[in-house]
Amino acid sequence: MTPRHPPAGAGRLLIRNLAQVATPSGQSAPLRGAALGETDVVEDAYVLCADGRIEAVGRMSDLRPLAGDVEELDGRGSAAIPGLVDCHTHACFGGDRVEEFSLRAGGASYEELHEAGGGILSTVQATRAAGEDGLREAVRRHRGWMLRAGTTTFEAKSGYGLDRTTELASLRAIDAEGGIPTYLGAHTVPQEYEQADAYLDFVVTEVLPEAAQVAEAADVFLEGGAFDVEQARRYLEAARNHGLQLRLHADQFTEAGGIELAIQLGARSVDHLEATGDEGVIALAASKVAAVVLPASALFLARPMAPARALVDAGAAVALATDFNPGSAFCESLPIVCSLACTQLKLSPQEALAACTVNAAHVLDRADRKGRIAPGYDADLVLLDAPDWRYLAYHLGGDVISAVVQAGAPVWQR
Ligand code: NIG
Ligand code: FE
Repeated sequence: MTPRHPPAGAGRLLIRNLAQVATPSGQSAPLRGAALGETDVVEDAYVLCADGRIEAVGRMSDLRPLAGDVEELDGRGSAAIPGLVDCHTHACFGGDRVEEFSLRAGGASYEELHEAGGGILSTVQATRAAGEDGLREAVRRHRGWMLRAGTTTFEAKSGYGLDRTTELASLRAIDAEGGIPTYLGAHTVPQEYEQADAYLDFVVTEVLPEAAQVAEAADVFLEGGAFDVEQARRYLEAARNHGLQLRLHADQFTEAGGIELAIQLGARSVDHLEATGDEGVIALAASKVAAVVLPASALFLARPMAPARALVDAGAAVALATDFNPGSAFCESLPIVCSLACTQLKLSPQEALAACTVNAAHVLDRADRKGRIAPGYDADLVLLDAPDWRYLAYHLGGDVISAVVQAGAPVWQR
């Protein structure tokens, strides 16, 4: 079946004979510390969806006959988990970076390519050339890939336009294709500007007011070669004045004050953290700022992994995401990210599941309705091709998804 969009969202759907239904425990969000590792599992189970929401979850032996029209989905042999939530992607871009990938395989570094005007700037060229229809098509294609990997809710950032027209077109394309748009105006300084500050003047006065009509959050790349702490502060404060949530790419290559800034500004999240040391871990854990860890990006760039285990143990609100983009993480699969979380970050399957469902939903301010299989939540579910839900992380790169339900409608089946 090819992905169907938008989902029907009406009527009733009974998913029956499921080997397991697994969902992060509790009702609160974000989950921290020991609570991150708690999963409720119901064996031999059903899930009843009505009007796009979950109406009931229980054991097959407790299922009573249902009156009226009910569509049925046979879950025999499958474990169900909540629809996955990808809270950090760059899914709106033109072109590809396969040439750069080959150069990196030959030894060139990501930073060198960026400094030589390749990297992000080469995608900027291709994205500007794509036009709004082309961008919509690109997001639709990438959304299809994500859906087949079990992602039913995704955030996507602009940041490959860097001019007014393309940034606004990117945000509209993401929104139109069902994504949650984040304005990444401060991704890098485009070639037509010599100074980062002059570019930010333009961003803040000419683009941000309109971007804030479409986007839910603003994001900045805080790193040498992109924006420094004071530039990031100026951009984020302006975004906050327009009512946007704040997010940061920080500590990807160097610790440059991103965590401190995120805490001072009350940011929703700080993402990457591959270079974060002990002090950063402790500061983040004591704050409300979520730590979004992106192991596919660290793997793709052969960089050290973020200290996710230490962050969880210290009590930080840890979420996992793909960072899907053409340069540093050409990977749309949260199941692969969960495998990396368990094998490289030393998280348990339970922690990985919560980090890319309820905690990711928290980053996107949707934890009241996304990320759990429980009555009242949106009926977004993934059926795995295995009777044990831990295959999500266990089957590394495997064909692990057998069906995806979005808003109470089967939108993809193998
Ligand atoms: O999150 N680090 C900055 N931005 C993206 C990569 C962008 C690109 O390489 O195209 C990231 O890794
Ligand atoms: Fe990113």
